Amino acid sequence: MTTDGTDPMNLNETLESLRSEAAIAVAGAVSLDELAVIESASIGKESPISAARRNLGKMPADERRDAGRFINEVAKEIEAAIAARRGQLQREESAAAIAAEAIDVTVDYVDLPKGRLHVIQQVMDEVCDIFVGLGYHIEEGPEAELAWYNFDALNTPPDHPGRMESDTMYLDYGKPEDEMLLRAHTSPIQARYMENHEPPVYIVAPGRAYRNDTIDASHLPVFHQIEGLAVDTSIQFSDLKGTLAEFARQFFGPETHVRMRPHYFPFTEPSAELDVSCFNCDGGESSCRVCKGVGWLEMLGCGMVDPNVFEAVGYDPGEVTGFAFGMGVERLAMVRHGIDSIRHFIDNDVRFLNQFPG
Ligand code: PHE
Repeated sequence: MTTDGTDPMNLNETLESLRSEAAIAVAGAVSLDELAVIESASIGKESPISAARRNLGKMPADERRDAGRFINEVAKEIEAAIAARRGQLQREESAAAIAAEAIDVTVDYVDLPKGRLHVIQQVMDEVCDIFVGLGYHIEEGPEAELAWYNFDALNTPPDHPGRMESDTMYLDYGKPEDEMLLRAHTSPIQARYMENHEPPVYIVAPGRAYRNDTIDASHLPVFHQIEGLAVDTSIQFSDLKGTLAEFARQFFGPETHVRMRPHYFPFTEPSAELDVSCFNCDGGESSCRVCKGVGWLEMLGCGMVDPNVFEAVGYDPGEVTGFAFGMGVERLAMVRHGIDSIRHFIDNDVRFLNQFPG
């Protein structure tokens, strides 16, 4: 068999077999590259089709027309099959590329458990809210404090036992005017406030306080306080008692009553400790686990602001009077929730903390 395409019988056979071989090859091509190779082999410059076309001129004129038509028919058929397969392969290849590059936005995420406020913060917020409701506003101050604001401005003399290094955590100790410490109460916030504001004053001062205490069931060297201060032109002891009674009712329940016992604080005169009636037994049960049968719960220290404090901050004690009080937040939380050791607050045991969802 000659392959130069000049013999019409051979030409027809060649074209027929090319037609069927090409159809099979095109259908079986699995990539665009493979299809390009098939294309050039079947209808490209070096293909039998091109060779047949080149040889048309050598054919007798009467056969040339039919041969030419047949060549074109087979070539068009193969071209069409290649174009169709190319389209198909292009779609498949781009679908595969899209699939390979896709980002799965539904991938698993880490679902962290939600946190909540510590029970101490919850109690602080609640107490502050009660006083805000009574017309007070909240003031804060530095935890590293000058001895002047922590002690001197608050009428605490140099020989007061609380000023000893064994009681207070000093950052700088020895030269009285430079002495710096971690504040032993939040009262210095009140002195700072009065120094910079004219009366009337109605503030609560929440925050951390530090004392050189060994940890036991009722002491932590770092704890929290909320102190309050009211200064105006005609404040009396009965205002103090009425204010604290209202606080106790809102915090411990509407049936709560209060009593005051004489006490001593350098910055108030007279001074008192406030007890609230036991919210658990109301003084009725000798076996009460909250008040141990006493009927009263010791709650906070308070008193009328000492005139020396007013003088230290530049107020005229002849013009103004005022009261102050201070409470430990840990103690409030322990009493309220029947917590037996202050250590639970710093253990960070979630089984304890989760009991106060807030
Ligand atoms: N500052 C006192 C304390 O830390 C509490 C207090 C405040 C007492 C105001 C009286 C008046 O114990």
